[in-house]
Amino acid sequence: MHKRTLLSMMMVAALSVMTLAGCSGGGREGTSSSDSSTQEATEATDTASDADSGDEASSDSASSEGFEAGSPVGISLPWLGTQNWKEAETMFTEQLTEAGYEPIVQAADQKVPQQQQQIESMIENGAKVIVVGPVDGSQLGSVLEQAKDAGVYVIGYDRLIENTTGVDGVVQFGSVETGRLQGKALLDGLKAEKGDGPYNIELFGGGPADPNAPNFFTGAMEVLQPEIDAGNLVVVSGQTDFTQCATEDWDNSKAQKRMESLLAGNYSDKEIDGVLSPNDGIARAIITACEDAGQPIPVVTGLDAENESVKWVWEGKQYCTVAKPTQDLVAKTIEIIDSLQAGEGMPETDVKTNNGKIDVPIYELPPVVVTKDNAKEVFADDPDRMELLQ
Ligand code: BGC
Repeated sequence: MHKRTLLSMMMVAALSVMTLAGCSGGGREGTSSSDSSTQEATEATDTASDADSGDEASSDSASSEGFEAGSPVGISLPWLGTQNWKEAETMFTEQLTEAGYEPIVQAADQKVPQQQQQIESMIENGAKVIVVGPVDGSQLGSVLEQAKDAGVYVIGYDRLIENTTGVDGVVQFGSVETGRLQGKALLDGLKAEKGDGPYNIELFGGGPADPNAPNFFTGAMEVLQPEIDAGNLVVVSGQTDFTQCATEDWDNSKAQKRMESLLAGNYSDKEIDGVLSPNDGIARAIITACEDAGQPIPVVTGLDAENESVKWVWEGKQYCTVAKPTQDLVAKTIEIIDSLQAGEGMPETDVKTNNGKIDVPIYELPPVVVTKDNAKEVFADDPDRMELLQ
C-alpha cells in the first residue's frame, strides 16, 4: 500500500469544499468537485437536492449492535478486465484479512446471473457486509433485498446500485465530475497540441449497463456540447448520443472496431484531432486504430491511471488520464465496514442520490486529471507509478 499524500490532501480539500457548500449532486451521482470552481456547474445539474423528500436508505435494517470481529465480508466485483478492479481484488483480500475479517472476494466476468449467484452464496456463507460493484446497476434488486432481509449491510462500490431498497450507501468517485474533467481536458489538449480550431473529434462512452458510463458522458457533454454548438468542435460522424457512442461491456476491441469504421467512413480526406474516451483501455484501442489508419495521434482522454496509459501519457502518446486511486476507495470502504462492525452504523454524509427507489447515501471522492505536466506531482507518493515516468 502506498500513501499518496498530495492526492489525499487534494481530496481532503475538495471534500471540505463539498461539505461547506452542503450541496448534492448532478445526474445520477451525488456532488463531486475537485475544486470550488466547478461547484456551480455541479449545482446547475442538481437533480438530487430533493433528497430529503424521498425514502431514506435505512441504515438500521441490519443489526446496529455491530457484529463479531472475525466475520465474513463479501466483495462482489463486476469483472477483472481493467486494472482498477484487479487492484480492488488484491487490496480488499489483503486489507480485510489484515483488519481481522474473513474476506470472500469474487468477480462476475460481466455476467449478471453469475454476480447474483455469487452474492447469494455470500449471504449463505454468513457475510455481515457485502460490497458490490455491479455488472449492471439495475439488475441486483431482488438479491440485494434478500441480503437486507438476512440482516446484511450492502455497500455499493465504485458504481451506483439502482432500483433497489437493498443498498445502505455507495463509495465512489464523482462520476459526472469525472466526465467534466475528461471534457475539459479534451478541450485543453486540443488547444495545446492541435493549433487553432475548429477541431475534428469523435466521442466514446463506456458500457451502457454500468451507471457510471452515462454519467461520464453527461459530464463530458456539459463541457463539449456548447463548443459543438458554437462550431469550435466538429463531430464528423455526427454521432453524439450516448447510445451511439457507448461501448458494450467496456470491451476495448469493440471500441477499436468502432474507431476503425469511423475513420474509414469519415476521415479519408481529413485528420482527426481529438477523441473523448471514457477510460484508459478504450483510449489505447482508439490510439491504436488511429495509428493503424495512418492518422496522426489525436488528443485522447482516459480514466484509471492504468500502468500502460501512465507510460503513454508520459511519452505523449495519450494526452491524459484521470486518477481515481483504488486504495482510497478501498480505504473508505473498510472504514465504513469498521464502523458497522463496531455497531456505529453507516457514517453521516450530506450527499445522497436517488436510485429510483430510495435516496442512497454517497461517500464520494474527487477524481484528478493527470497530464504529462502534473504526473510527477500527482504520483509523488506512488512509487509504482513514479517508476513508469522515466
Ligand atoms: C469504473 C472505471 C472502469 C470501468 C470499466 C467503471 O465503472 O469506474 O474505473 O474503467 O468501469 O471497468
